[in-house]
Amino acid sequence: MRKPLLAGNWKMYKTPADTKAFFEKFIPLVAASAHAEVAICPPFVAIAAAVDAAAGSNVGVGGQDCYWTNKEGAFTGEVSPAMLKAAGCEWVIIGHSERRQFFGETDESVCKKTVAAIEAGLRPIVCVGELLEERESGRTNDVLKTQFDGGMAPLTAEQFAQIVIAYEPVWAIGTGKVATPEIAEDAHKVIRSLVEAKSGKTAADAVRILYGGSVKPDNVKGLMAQPDIDGALVGGASLKAEDFAGVVNF
Ligand code: 13P
Repeated sequence: MRKPLLAGNWKMYKTPADTKAFFEKFIPLVAASAHAEVAICPPFVAIAAAVDAAAGSNVGVGGQDCYWTNKEGAFTGEVSPAMLKAAGCEWVIIGHSERRQFFGETDESVCKKTVAAIEAGLRPIVCVGELLEERESGRTNDVLKTQFDGGMAPLTAEQFAQIVIAYEPVWAIGTGKVATPEIAEDAHKVIRSLVEAKSGKTAADAVRILYGGSVKPDNVKGLMAQPDIDGALVGGASLKAEDFAGVVNF
């Protein structure tokens, strides 16, 4: 059985003080949520506050991106997976569509970052998903295959076993237009069949595939009822403790 993972991606929101206040409210609301794993990915500068506030709880902390090697070096502005691990992170989001759209992320850099994150002992949440025009022109499955082939297929079986995949259709992110459970399930099936074709049925059955894009307390249940949806990667609704607790306790 795949244990659900509900992960919050805070994007560029919240200071360390905001983070502390969030966790004070949030931790009691999910303290009994043994049915799922829970993670929050704050901005880099709030990770220390999150790790402090989450100590001893069932909430893990993650980064939203990382550099593609672990060796220290002259790379201004970058943070290595090993540094995230040393700061207390368990998770890292890699290849988010906002990184792809605005910051030059490619399938090749996604793959390198994923390997480096695994080497550092982090659990990567690797994102894929199509743009609106790609869906409308019938290219969704090709896009997912290209992103999978470039970003994840080169991993060894041992490396692959460490990752979580997130399907985030770009047209559903921050728009309030959640994919219907059926549309999401179709894409998750496609992704799982890509895993099966590459690595076999055991790997395909084991990998968790999260849905992301306008997930809210009132639509999460229908999504989680789908057989191939194993959790959610949540933006806006992860910023409020009550809302994200509502998602976790779907
Ligand atoms: P929203 O939940 O705000 O649509 O964001 C989704 C997302 O991008 C999570 O990574």
